Amino acid sequence: MGKFENRKAIVLGGTSGIGLATAEMLRDGGAEVIAGSRHECAIDGIDCVQIDVLDRAALGALFAKHSGFDYLVNAATGGPRAIGPFLEMDLDGFQNSFAKLWGYVNSVRLGVPQMSPDGAVVLFSGYPARKYRPGTLAIGSVGGSVEAFIHLVANEISPVRINGVCPGLIDTPMSTLEGDARREYYEKGTRGHLIPRPGTAEECAAGAIFLLENEFVTGTIIDIDGGAIVT
Ligand SMILES: NC(=O)c1ccc[n+]([C@@H]2O[C@H](COP(=O)([O-])OP(=O)(O)OC[C@H]3O[C@@H](n4cnc5c(N)ncnc54)[C@H](OP(=O)(O)O)[C@@H]3O)[C@@H](O)[C@H]2O)c1
Repeated sequence: MGKFENRKAIVLGGTSGIGLATAEMLRDGGAEVIAGSRHECAIDGIDCVQIDVLDRAALGALFAKHSGFDYLVNAATGGPRAIGPFLEMDLDGFQNSFAKLWGYVNSVRLGVPQMSPDGAVVLFSGYPARKYRPGTLAIGSVGGSVEAFIHLVANEISPVRINGVCPGLIDTPMSTLEGDARREYYEKGTRGHLIPRPGTAEECAAGAIFLLENEFVTGTIIDIDGGAIVT
């Protein structure tokens, strides 16, 4: 019997990268999994739904339909994020980068009241929240907000637990680069890290699975970053 037998999980942003890997691990552990994202998709053994995490009415309806569900994972990036030097940054782009936070907040606010009391939530921040990287002021500010939200809201949604994974540089479809350009991007981006390579979606998803499973963990963040933050 799988460790997630008789459990139901909703994984938003569950059709690509880290979210997809998490959805597949939950499925392989025996959970009933619903994966949501904006584009149509099909994944073996997973119920895929088209949903935008910024659409509160649609999110509310999804959670109501699956009332009593156990796990909420939200890995949705929300939309385009602004990258580049802060003093040259388009301010609308900076502001729009917070779509990720709004998607996370929407899902916790609307999802938790429909969850089982022994349920658990996992969100994703990102290492620019606590480690300066040129060009990532917007992303880092969003990640920092996600981490603050997790620490604080844990008090108000207990006994439902909430935790975060803080990924380092992870090789996922988030980067659209190909071939040599992709290799160079990850090589350059991880050169100074203690483990000088990008992480895999599965390595990151394993952190989410730990946080869902371990019933003595709430309000915290685990770094899965190849030592990026401590260098
Ligand atoms: N990869 C990294 O290096 C890295 C580093 C630090 C932090 N993170 C964080 O880790 C999380 C997962 O990243 P990833 O690399 O796995 O990204 P990814 O491969 O680009 O996947 C993002 C997923 O989110 C969905 N999505 C985006 N906007 C959405 C919206 N408005 N509504 C619903 N679904 C939406 C996408 O599907 P649709 O486009 O079909 O909607 C896709 O399924 C994100 O929070 C990201 O910021 C990643």
